[in-house]
Amino acid sequence: MINLSKRIPTSDVQKIKIGSEVIVAGWVEQSKLLGKLAFLKLRDREGYVQVVATSNYSKMKDLNSISRESVVSIRGRVKKSKARSGGKELELIELNLLSKAATPLPIEFLGNKIETDLSKRLDYRYIDLRHPQRLAIFKIRAIILSAIHSFMRESKFIEIQTSKLSGAGAEGGAELFELPYFGKKVALNQSQQLYKQLIMLSGFERAYEIGTSYRAEKSHTHRHLTEFWQLDVELSFINGIEDIMRLQERLLVYILRQVKKEGKSELELLGKEITVPKLPFPRINYSDACNLLKVKSNTDIGTELERKLAKIIKSKFKTDSFFLTNFPDDFTKFYAKHDENIGRYVDLIYNSNEISSGGQREHNYDILIQQIKDKGLRPKDFEFYTTPFKYGAPPHGGFGMGIDRLVTFILDLPNIREGVLFPRDVDRIGP
Ligand code: 4AD
Ligand code: MG
Repeated sequence: MINLSKRIPTSDVQKIKIGSEVIVAGWVEQSKLLGKLAFLKLRDREGYVQVVATSNYSKMKDLNSISRESVVSIRGRVKKSKARSGGKELELIELNLLSKAATPLPIEFLGNKIETDLSKRLDYRYIDLRHPQRLAIFKIRAIILSAIHSFMRESKFIEIQTSKLSGAGAEGGAELFELPYFGKKVALNQSQQLYKQLIMLSGFERAYEIGTSYRAEKSHTHRHLTEFWQLDVELSFINGIEDIMRLQERLLVYILRQVKKEGKSELELLGKEITVPKLPFPRINYSDACNLLKVKSNTDIGTELERKLAKIIKSKFKTDSFFLTNFPDDFTKFYAKHDENIGRYVDLIYNSNEISSGGQREHNYDILIQQIKDKGLRPKDFEFYTTPFKYGAPPHGGFGMGIDRLVTFILDLPNIREGVLFPRDVDRIGP
């Protein structure tokens, strides 16, 4: 048996001296018998290596039975590749068939002329993800998350974890997923919002959480899921939304720099170049945005108008990243701090799409209760959240950034589902 603990990644074969023996393992993407020779294209996480069986190999016939996508381990000798100048390949010495793949494959995922449609690809996600470009997306996603953690730690934020089960919706009551809970009803969290705020009242001063949020929205768009990942950030003793914007723009630039630095080969594979925007990002007042868009000043700037606005900003300021600030209170949440009827609220638009919302929060108990009533909600449902404001609350604010959207719009993916391993939407709850 081939000793798997001695296995090296296929990509390392190129660094090994000609004539050495190595062990590799992975999926057989192609196998070809050509006269007295057989060729296997072996794929693992790090890339490919070509394996050649010559007449020195005594079990040539066995190679016939290796179907595409079977998993094998291989002992081979490094030699100069005839096909790739300067490259190396392996001459087969020993092969173990570890798992034979059934035929035909449920979907074609490589080299087929017609792209399998996304829905079918998601049905067979475990195969779809074998495509090196799909893997590259998730390697970049991991770089993004690791960059977020580094940035937050360097900026003195404490990582927190809050409950995903709660009695009240943070972002408006209509879109809750309710579930039975020992004779009571609870809901899945719509965001980490109320709990990250409570932590500010507990004196953590700076905290962040990366967690899932759930919204029962019947939207079939390229950028909405029913389960999505959010980076939630909250900080105390702020003067206003400028503090929140400064933090966010530095975070985005930090993430993009890290992706550029650590994700070179993945970006190349995806054919994507990253532009790191200049600081500071333009800050566009909501009413000015409406003027630029030539719409009434209290128009809801949704997906289409956002895109249009991004085009205008791009031509004016030569950037893909900007903040939309000071929202009319029709478009703010009950927890936002207001100046008259303008919310201290801010969206970050990147690559023509909203990737985050945030702002300063109302920390005065009486005003908070009034705002809950004004939004047509019942103060009683929010007592767990409002009562703490009676006992000492610092001025605070923060933002929630969609991780899946970040991945999608950094990589220009056509659909948010491409950047999520097992996406959940109105029609999909599996695999
Ligand atoms: O704009 P949202 O709803 O704001 C909040 O959740 C607030 N608690 C944030 C705050 O701190 N005030 O959500 C924040 C971000 C959005 O900008 C978007 O990137 C992402 O979360 N998001 C979604 N991503 C995928 N699918 C959905 N259904 C999403 N809803 C929001
Ligand atoms: Mg928003």
